[in-house]
Amino acid sequence: MCGIVGYIGTQAATEILLSGLEKLEYRGYDSAGIATIWEGEVNCVRAKGKLHNLRSKLEAVEAPAQIGIGHTRWATHGKPEEYNAHPHMDTAMRVAVVQNGIIENYRELRQDLKQKGYVFRSETDTEVIPHLIAEFLKNPPSSQLAQCSSPFFEAVRQAVNKLKGAFAIACVCADFPDELIAIRQQAPLVIGFGQGEFFCASDTPAIVSHTRAVLTLENGEMARLTPLGVEIYNFAGDRLKKQPRLLNLSPMMVEKQGFKHFMLKEIYEQPGVVRACLEAYFTNDINAPINLSLPAEFYDDLEQIQILACGTSWHAALIGKYLIEQLAGIPTQVQYASEFRYAPSPLTANTLTIGVTQSGETADTLAALAMEKERRSALELKYQPRLLGITNRPESTLGEMVSQIINIHGGLEIGVAATKTFIAQLMAFYALALDLAYRRQTISPDKLEDIINSLRQIPKEIEATLERQENLIEQLAHDFAETTDFIFVGRGINFPIALEGALKLKEVSYIHAEGYPAGEMKHGPIALLDAKVPVVAIAMPGNVYEKVLSNAQEAKARDSRLIGVTPVNDGEAAEIFNDLLPVSNVDELLSPILTVIPLQLLAYHIAARRGLDVDQPRNLAKSVTVE
Ligand code: M6R
Repeated sequence: MCGIVGYIGTQAATEILLSGLEKLEYRGYDSAGIATIWEGEVNCVRAKGKLHNLRSKLEAVEAPAQIGIGHTRWATHGKPEEYNAHPHMDTAMRVAVVQNGIIENYRELRQDLKQKGYVFRSETDTEVIPHLIAEFLKNPPSSQLAQCSSPFFEAVRQAVNKLKGAFAIACVCADFPDELIAIRQQAPLVIGFGQGEFFCASDTPAIVSHTRAVLTLENGEMARLTPLGVEIYNFAGDRLKKQPRLLNLSPMMVEKQGFKHFMLKEIYEQPGVVRACLEAYFTNDINAPINLSLPAEFYDDLEQIQILACGTSWHAALIGKYLIEQLAGIPTQVQYASEFRYAPSPLTANTLTIGVTQSGETADTLAALAMEKERRSALELKYQPRLLGITNRPESTLGEMVSQIINIHGGLEIGVAATKTFIAQLMAFYALALDLAYRRQTISPDKLEDIINSLRQIPKEIEATLERQENLIEQLAHDFAETTDFIFVGRGINFPIALEGALKLKEVSYIHAEGYPAGEMKHGPIALLDAKVPVVAIAMPGNVYEKVLSNAQEAKARDSRLIGVTPVNDGEAAEIFNDLLPVSNVDELLSPILTVIPLQLLAYHIAARRGLDVDQPRNLAKSVTVE
């Protein structure tokens, strides 16, 4: 979490930093700040709360500086107050630093620096960094160790070598007004190359309106940005040769394009996302109908699959489990990455481990995968690197960690609540489960063809489903704007959709919501029901349709208002439910791709009606890069 941005060039830095931070606000929005260098001084302005507070403060400040750094914070160490906002500075106010991540050994460093007379003004872990840099500037090592003659670079390098943890840092110093140093150690950082101007940022949307030429720093690398260019080094100080690549992202993609919120825009982008997945994963070749480019060893003697994920990705993984077990017959476990780290299941030979993470940066998922990698290397496995990542960001830290990736082709998602990337993750699981089933011959060619053909119809069914909901859901949102509790129920492949519907509502509307397997209600949660607690039931024809309808009746008998996500024109459902959110009638196996849509819209419209900040809900950040 936290977003950092840096600029050096010929334009006024402040506006470039602010507009970069706007694009990074999805990473955290507890406070924000920028530091620029002008006439030999660091000008540091910070504000509690969202970026517009910082913007208003800066209106009164003259801003001709052409170098600066900025930060938008998701608080970890220290309350979200202005004194904890970044940038942080050394005692003499010459060095300014922004950081995303956690400095694990900050307590020892802080103690040591305090004894040397450095004055701390915040409760953050980050503040040790400017003091350490100042210390190395004051007392440089006797011999220059790096292949770079800049004393500022060398002081930063020495300081960075003292830090433990996962971090991305950008720093400037009033005594070196032509240098910006950026560092990456297990937290994302990209460098942007413009014409006589250079950028660094936690993520590409922050710089795409200035340049599409970027270089992603790798762990253990530092960049020295000057008005003349960018030099890359490792932490030992050796110069590295690296070339930027061209981004496949346009400035338009980071705009709302007429929608009131990114979340709504992203919900409406879902037909296009599914089309992109269909294009990428399925072919017209009957001898190779699925194209995931996984090595044959991934399929050999596979006995078990374990999937590690958090949040919405965990819900997608539950649907993945259903598909893999039912289509390919492979026992599959789904674990919360944060739990698995401290109580891993015994690792058996021939297990495929899959990490699912939209951002590719979720700390718990990455740590669980790193642990699996380690455990594997200690075992004599027939095929060691059986680690697969499912992600929207193949260039992320996850991409470096696993041997194979399935790119979910979701496109950039800015709303903090995951919507289109959830559907994209589902598409990746359909392709993987079908590929496993095809290669293990647990599915007939006819059935496979049938499912692929039905998947090809899904984009237009999503369009029809979106169209059907428009007025219905706005009316429901009006009715439920003051509701305090919601229950979502589903069974079988739609149970994870009940969980996802509840999570979406909690995240964006702050209404308490729970998702349950419909059959479990009578084992306790039914005690919650009365006329004030609406129940949303997902009832799609198939294996468990009649069962869900009976469970819904049980809720109705306790006076709950019943909302049904049901197939269009379903007479039986119309008699039972008070309100219907109809979706196209598709095979139960494919139904989650449609049933989640009304639930995303319900969460969105209730939150919007309550006047909440839908795209940046309180306390959340899009990529959770701390444990
Ligand atoms: O980037 P990841 O998929 O690893 O993120 C996992 C969760 O943090 C994420 O899904 C979170 O639950 C979303 N805000 C859900 O809308």
